[in-house]
Amino acid sequence: MNQELALEVLLDGNSVFLTGPAGTGKTYVLTQFIKLARSSGLHVAVTATTGLAASHLGGTTIHSWSGIGIGDSIYTGFVDHMSKTRREIIEKTDVLVIDEISMLHDYRLDMIDTVCRLVKAKPDVPFGGIQVVMSGDFFQLPPINRGESRQGGFVVNSQAWEELDPVICYLNQQFRQDDEDLRSILESMRGADLRRGHVEKLLARSEVESPDEDITELYTVNIDVDKVNERKLAQLEGDEYSYMQTETGAKNYVESLQRSILAPSVLKLKQGALVMAIRNSVEKKYVNGSLGIVKDFDYATNFPVVEFRSGKTVTMSPETWELRDGDKKRASISQVPLRLAWAITVHKSQGMTLDAAKMDLSKSFVEGMGYVALSRVRNLENLYLTGINRMALQISSEALRIDEVLRKKSARDKTKFEGEFANRKSKISEIIETAKETPRTWQDKLEKMREQHPNAYKSWSSGDDEDLKMMFRNGSTVGDLSKHFGRHEGSILKRLQKHFGEDTIVL
Ligand SMILES: Nc1ncnc2c1ncn2[C@@H]1O[C@H](COP(=O)(O)OP(=O)(O)OP(=O)(O)O)[C@@H](O)[C@H]1O
Ligand SMILES: [Mg+2]
Repeated sequence: MNQELALEVLLDGNSVFLTGPAGTGKTYVLTQFIKLARSSGLHVAVTATTGLAASHLGGTTIHSWSGIGIGDSIYTGFVDHMSKTRREIIEKTDVLVIDEISMLHDYRLDMIDTVCRLVKAKPDVPFGGIQVVMSGDFFQLPPINRGESRQGGFVVNSQAWEELDPVICYLNQQFRQDDEDLRSILESMRGADLRRGHVEKLLARSEVESPDEDITELYTVNIDVDKVNERKLAQLEGDEYSYMQTETGAKNYVESLQRSILAPSVLKLKQGALVMAIRNSVEKKYVNGSLGIVKDFDYATNFPVVEFRSGKTVTMSPETWELRDGDKKRASISQVPLRLAWAITVHKSQGMTLDAAKMDLSKSFVEGMGYVALSRVRNLENLYLTGINRMALQISSEALRIDEVLRKKSARDKTKFEGEFANRKSKISEIIETAKETPRTWQDKLEKMREQHPNAYKSWSSGDDEDLKMMFRNGSTVGDLSKHFGRHEGSILKRLQKHFGEDTIVL
C-alpha cells in the first residue's frame, strides 16, 4: 500500500495497524495523520512504547498515557484510583496513536483496552470506541521479558487485537535506504534468505576505520553503552560535575523504579558532553530523547546548561519520577533528567534515522536486534561494524509467520478501500482546503484556541486559584493542571509563578 492510501484510510476513521519494513515511512505517515486529524478538530493522543520513539512524534509513552505505568495487571478499582486528570485525558481522546508497537506485550495492550473501556464507560466496545492507530514492524525488537516479571508476546496475540480487528496498511516503498546493497541485505534478512554475498558485503564494513568525528555508537547491552560514554567523558578537558539522585520509599520499590527509568543514579558531566533529555519539559523546551551539548554550569546552583539541537538553551534542574500503586506513592527518584548520549542501546535506537553509525553487534541476544541496528543508516558507506554474531542476522520465525498473514490482509484491505474511495473526494484535500478557508481574525483564533483550552484568556476566579494552588502542592504537573483548568500550559506556568514566585520549579 502506498503512504497516501494509508493516510486516507486513517483519516476515514478506521482503527489501523500501519506496518512495513524499517524506513518505509510509518512514523512519517503518523506525523501527517496527527497534523491533519488535529486540524479537523479531533483529540489525538500520541504515544510510543519508548520515550525516545515517542519523542520523534512529540508524544509520551503509552505506559504513562494510559496510567498503567510499569504494572502488569489491572486490579479491581484501578480506574477509580486514577487521577481525575488522567481520566479526563482518556475520556476526551478520539484517536490513540501507538508507535513501535512491536515492543508492547500482548497483555499490556489488553490492559490499555480495559482502561479505555472503563474510562469511556463503554465496556463492550474495543478501547471504548477510540480510533486506535498502531504502528510498527514485528521483524524489529520484541517485547522485553525480564526473568522476574510477567512474560508476554507480540500484540497480535492479544484479545484486544482480535476484537479491534484493525485494517492492515502495509507500506512497501523504502524511503530511508538509498543504497541498493544495504536494501538488498535488509530485504533478504526479512525473507530469512541471507546469501553469502550479503554477509561478505556486511563484513567488509568491519574492516573500515570509522572517522574520528563523533558519530553515534550502538551497542546491544547497557554496560557497553555506559563504558563508551564514560570513556568519551574522560577524554573531555575541564571539571567533572556529579549529580547524586535523591530517593524516597522502600528499597525494593526504589530498585523497581530505577529499572524502569533512564536516569543514572550518579550523573557525571563535563562541559562539551553530548547528552540526551530523558523527560519531557513542561515548557516544551526539550522532549524525552532530545539531544544537546553541555555548554556550561550555572554559577549558583551548578546545574548543567544544555544547548539542544533545536537551538534552545536550558538550565536543567532535577525532576521527580514516582512509582505509584493506585493512589499510593511507593517510591520516588529525583535526578537531573539527562544521560550521556555518545552511545545508546539498539533498543533505544529503534525508530531513528542516523546519518552515520558505529555498531557492535557481537553481543546481540535477541532476534531482530541486528535488523534494527543495520536499518538505522541510509547506506553501507556510513555504517561501521565493530563486531557481529550469528544472532544479529536472525529474525523471529513468529514475525515471519505473522508477516504472511499481514501481507494477505493488507492486499485485501487495499482493494476494498481503493474501491470505496474511488468516487469520493480525498479527505486529505478536504481538510487542507477547510483549514485554508478558516478566517484568522483574533476572535476566530480565540475560538480555535478554546476548542482545546476552553478557558483560554478568561480571568481566574478566586476559587480556581485556590484549587490551582492546592493541586500543585499535591503534586499535579503543569500538563495535568492545563487539562483540568482548560488553559494552555504556558498560562498555568505563569499563574503558578505569580503565586509561588519566579523560580518555581515545576515537575
Ligand atoms: N513520503 C516521504 N517523503 C520524504 N521523506 C520520507 C517520506 N516518508 C519517509 N520519509 C523519510 O524516510 C525516513 C524513514 O521514515 P520513518 O522513520 O518514518 O520510517 P519508519 O517506517 O517509521 O521506520 P522504522 O521502522 O525504523 O521506525 C525518514 O527520514 C523520513 O523522514
Ligand atoms: Mg518509525
